[in-house]
Amino acid sequence: MELQQCIETRRSVRKFNNQEVKDEVINELVEAAKFAPSWKNTQVTRYYAIKSQEKKEKILEAMPDFNQEATKSASVIIVSTVVTLRSGYNRQGEFDSPKGKGWQMYDCGCSNMLFTLKAKELGLGTVIMGIYDEEKVAKTIDLPENEEVVSVIAMGYYEEEPQMPKRKGVDVLLHII
Ligand SMILES: Cc1cc2nc3c(=O)[nH]c(=O)nc-3n(C[C@H](O)[C@H](O)[C@H](O)COP(=O)(O)O)c2cc1C
Repeated sequence: MELQQCIETRRSVRKFNNQEVKDEVINELVEAAKFAPSWKNTQVTRYYAIKSQEKKEKILEAMPDFNQEATKSASVIIVSTVVTLRSGYNRQGEFDSPKGKGWQMYDCGCSNMLFTLKAKELGLGTVIMGIYDEEKVAKTIDLPENEEVVSVIAMGYYEEEPQMPKRKGVDVLLHII
């Protein structure tokens, strides 16, 4: 698939069929995500792929109503996290710029973008979810103390291609000065 087509046709998918997502495929996605740029190449993003039914139910409990369907039907639930106190910090453990912790979120976003585009290329649907009970999610995956949950991504194969929500034009988004 051409990059432009992949970019334009990736959609947030919120309903999946029950086809299994193989471990090799999940590996391929993280293999793509590892090429994301990151603050001083700190590479702080981590992925937890949840396939166990018991753990998936625990994640479901951490989700608000509007994220229930995607989470429930997902073949695999991805929790992406960041190793803290690295991205955006200098060697003395101080913030390197006024954006502070913002850079670790930025790095995770860059990584998630590659992850979800690669998923699209391989025929998988994804939806990044930002609203969840953080403590419950962290507990479910036995998150180490030096990591923080950033996003939960429901993923699976799907039948129905969602419609594209309207996009703003380049005339609004771009200022060439
Ligand atoms: C940081 C972030 C958080 C999001 N959180 C949610 C969410 O909690 N639930 C949901 O259904 N979609 C969520 N989305 C998906 C957006 O609603 C979606 O990307 C947007 O409507 C554009 O649609 P598209 O991805 O199909 O192009 C999130 C997306 C991002 C990037």
